Amino acid sequence: MTQDTWTQIDHYYQERLATKDAVLDTALTTGAEAGMPPIDVSANQGALLHILALTLGTKSILEIGTLAGYSTICLARALPADGKLISLEFEPTHAQVAQANIENAGLADRVEVRVGKAIDTLPQLAEEGAGPFDLVFIDADKASIPDYFRWALKLTKPGSLIIVDNVVRGGEVLNADSDDPDIQGIRRFADMLNSEPRVKATAIQTVSTKGYDGLAVARVIL
Ligand code: SAH
Ligand code: DHB
Ligand code: MG
Repeated sequence: MTQDTWTQIDHYYQERLATKDAVLDTALTTGAEAGMPPIDVSANQGALLHILALTLGTKSILEIGTLAGYSTICLARALPADGKLISLEFEPTHAQVAQANIENAGLADRVEVRVGKAIDTLPQLAEEGAGPFDLVFIDADKASIPDYFRWALKLTKPGSLIIVDNVVRGGEVLNADSDDPDIQGIRRFADMLNSEPRVKATAIQTVSTKGYDGLAVARVIL
């Protein structure tokens, strides 16, 4: 079983489960045209985010890492008309492209993209009294996952869900001696989960069009 099989199987289920989606297709093409890396969640992962958000009945979502707005749209589509999603993005050009895609999705009334380093915009959000969020999706720089997870805990309440993308990285998470700060960030996050009484959490390995990776899902319980 290799990447070719994983991609074919993603397409197999995508064809059967997801209807054609011009808005999401445009998010991918505009991102590519703007020179962004193709690291949006896959179509099936996006559908999973959407279903989880729907199932939770989320009214407020925080996303860290917007890119072209693909996952943003998947999540925000689960919100009621008076719901709100705030997405934090470091690169102004990414935020600009995402904003256009969010408008194209008809979600501009519910979604706000904030430009800046998340480590700076998160305390601003807290100061403004934002939250508690029903769902937090952490998908920016991996080295900072421990910091983002700490903020996510501050900005949620019991019953909220915190989802962290890219916790396996082709298996590199096992490499304790890795000199990659992203891997060390993921490993520190895994150790935090181990000793964090405020969440019930799991980590699931995934193969997809995006290779071998994984997701951590943590429900806030205290
Ligand atoms: N969630 C998106 C993909 C995000 S890719 C999707 O699935 O569609 C990661 C994004 O995080 C990139 O756009 C990158 O510019 C942004 N990013 C990287 N470092 C950041 C930081 N320190 N603060 C905020 N955003 C950051
Ligand atoms: C990378 C980042 C992501 O968020 C992702 O889902 C896949 C890859 C990256 O930076 O390589
Ligand atoms: Mg990701």
